[in-house]
Amino acid sequence: MSKSSVTALVALSLVTGVAATLQAAPPYQPFPNGYGYMEPGEIAKLKAAVAAGDHKTVREHGWKLWAGIMQPDAAGTGPIWFTWPNSKGAFAPSAGLGAANAPGKSLIQLNAGIRAGQPSGGVIPVNIPNDKLPFYPIPQDVITNYPNAAKNCVTPDNPNNICDGAHFLFNGDIMIPTESLSREGFGWIRDKRLYEQSTLDRLHRQGVRDLNLPARYIVTKHMYWPVKAGSIAAIPIWHEYHDGKYPDYAGYETWPDMVGVDPSGQSVGKTVTASYLYGVLQPDQKTPWPTQTGTVTVYGLKDFYYHQVTQDEWNGFDEADKAILDAASSWANNAAFGPGDYLVTIAMHVNTKEIPTWALQSVWWSDRPDSLPFAADRPKLPQAKGPWEHYLLLDAYGIPERDHKDRLPVATNPYIELVIHPVGTDCNNCHMRAGWPTGNSAGTSSYQNPDCPDSLAKLSPDSVCFRKYTRSDFQWIIPDRARK
Ligand code: HEC
Repeated sequence: MSKSSVTALVALSLVTGVAATLQAAPPYQPFPNGYGYMEPGEIAKLKAAVAAGDHKTVREHGWKLWAGIMQPDAAGTGPIWFTWPNSKGAFAPSAGLGAANAPGKSLIQLNAGIRAGQPSGGVIPVNIPNDKLPFYPIPQDVITNYPNAAKNCVTPDNPNNICDGAHFLFNGDIMIPTESLSREGFGWIRDKRLYEQSTLDRLHRQGVRDLNLPARYIVTKHMYWPVKAGSIAAIPIWHEYHDGKYPDYAGYETWPDMVGVDPSGQSVGKTVTASYLYGVLQPDQKTPWPTQTGTVTVYGLKDFYYHQVTQDEWNGFDEADKAILDAASSWANNAAFGPGDYLVTIAMHVNTKEIPTWALQSVWWSDRPDSLPFAADRPKLPQAKGPWEHYLLLDAYGIPERDHKDRLPVATNPYIELVIHPVGTDCNNCHMRAGWPTGNSAGTSSYQNPDCPDSLAKLSPDSVCFRKYTRSDFQWIIPDRARK
């Protein structure tokens, strides 16, 4: 796996002339050929498919993007996206990544953020309230071993935080996120200084209604799950427990079914007892959330996209990266993370600007990889390495329901969204709202506000609720992460 922090700095220096130390970093690798990305004819086909409500065509494309972005880099050590700059680097101050350690929020908090506007018209609130969420206190060992990472990003209203690392963000739970950007996407944010709120303020004052990202903008959100080398990890598995009408918290901690992952391979195929969830509290932040123990079928690493962290990589991680990995592993496995341990891909969003209305797709691992509807339309990709077919995929290109043209179907990644949102959301609806300034009153950019309350409405750039602010072309990272 490469050092995306260094990659980010290299890209930064190329794009903006900021001086960077050029260490021996595996070079940036663009999205690979042979997976439909920007290939002749593909864009016209996608546009026509969206217009015609043809999920099959967009899903075939989504599968190819997913398989393509997970292909190994030239060194054969990590997925292509890991050679890309990430959202921490994209929003570093102009002084560079070294200066970036501002008080922050965990990704879950950003995802809830200040945009918890009041729902009206009987719709389900789009954010699960704080007093319904499990609480993950930062383990004492993490605070002791990585005091800067665990203290520098703590604020009075956010006392339980770890700073974003150069490679990994802090989600506030067991999942270990990275938001990576194609070089074109990263360069666009840097060149236009969209990492500064003053730029967004100016554009808004000038009456700019929409930012217009370049066609080769790709952005991801990828989630690793920590697995210790010496033991069988338990991982909770989504089996369609609830439909879109379920209003309550449905995050992974509540799921009854789990699988085991045995890095040694010895117990693969067997049924064993395994556990996860240690040191986690109920929403009251006092009562322990019980450790989940169950009878699980054991899978091998090869059933997942996975990566073993080497000693060299561990040495290259910054303090926050290590704190994030340690905290995640102690909540999952009751043990710190270290060199030789594994990260397995549990879920991923891949968003591209290939078509002006966006191509949004999302995947998650499943022990029932052939279960419909999310297994549908997988193309044959004999050249693709790795177990991409062990994952399920949803598409959210803005195609409305067949019989209700003003409604979007539920499109939610059970791992990523359900730790903060109810089941009934759609990526497209929420991301189309992204813009500046944010708020929760009418006319501001929010998930749910009085002029735009419904998280499953089919919105369009002309929707009335977008008239007063500057849309950031589906990018929540821009209003979320731009600096004061
Ligand atoms: C209710 C709102 C909401 C929903 C629903 C939602 N997201 Fe997001 N998403 C966000 C926010 C907020 C961020 C920014 C997090 C940050 O600041 O790092 C984000 C970040 C992302 C990113 C990183 C770049 C960006 O766009 O800002 C991707 C990619 C992404 N989401 C894809 C998806 C996909 C695919 C789905 C559907 C499966 C989805 N999201 C559902 C709110 C949402």
